Amino acid sequence: MPRVYTRLGEWKLERAAMDRSGLSLGFVPTMGALHAGHRSLLERARAENDRVVLSIFVNPTQFNDPADLKRYPQTLGPDLDLADGVADYALFPSRAEMYPDDYNYRMTEGSLSARMEGAQRPGHFDGVLTVVLKLLNLVRPHRAYFGEKDWQQLLLVQGMVRALFLPVEIVPCPTVRDPDGLALSSRNRGLSESGRALAAAFPRILREPAPAQRAAKALGDAGFGVDYVEDHAGVRLGAVRLEEIRLIDNVRL
Ligand code: PAJ
Repeated sequence: MPRVYTRLGEWKLERAAMDRSGLSLGFVPTMGALHAGHRSLLERARAENDRVVLSIFVNPTQFNDPADLKRYPQTLGPDLDLADGVADYALFPSRAEMYPDDYNYRMTEGSLSARMEGAQRPGHFDGVLTVVLKLLNLVRPHRAYFGEKDWQQLLLVQGMVRALFLPVEIVPCPTVRDPDGLALSSRNRGLSESGRALAAAFPRILREPAPAQRAAKALGDAGFGVDYVEDHAGVRLGAVRLEEIRLIDNVRL
């Protein structure tokens, strides 16, 4: 089982001891409610590093909808079971410790972060980039692992690392899907049986080589509420709503 750190002071002592050991460190930041997608990031980190750190922090600043934050699943026990054998350390910090400044200091990206997910969820990527920067400073990993499932997030984190000369390698990891093609997400748990069956049409329609507007129309016809479908740098990104659940995905063009 990973050793759990709820106090940052204790974690910093452990991390300082690691500096002296010269071991390489891989890091997987998450918001918990772990599934096989998260597990694949942890396994990759395990294969490429001497030690693996997992963080579980439901980051309030990246939720623009308070109801969404409130219903975000918190499942520490099962999460630690899932990380068993692949993570050595689990950081589980409090909101007060992560935001001693009350979020007065924040990281903003001025271009890509305003589009697609950012246009639908104002301030979302400020929250993501700020917490990722804090976590990278706390963990100081050699490599950090991010899922391609959240493609725009991955691009923005890679851009931040380049812009600020952060001494970490960002490792993109392929999206893990259910056999019917739906990308794994903790939000899928909220779908009814019929909603879950329909959800598989989302990645299938995204993948059809029509212009983005045609895919958006096809999704609407299939019964999804469409937030956006956009082609960006060889990747088609989309977000839809189904039974109050928001699904995001992307496919290479
Ligand atoms: P969370 O949604 O918990 O995701 C944690 C990591 O798991 C992200 O890098 C995400 O892209 C990856 N992931 C999620 N589902 C996946 C799947 N089906 N296949 C592969 N990887 C998958 O993303 C966040 O948390 C937060 O924004 C965070 C980066 C932790 C900052 O708060």
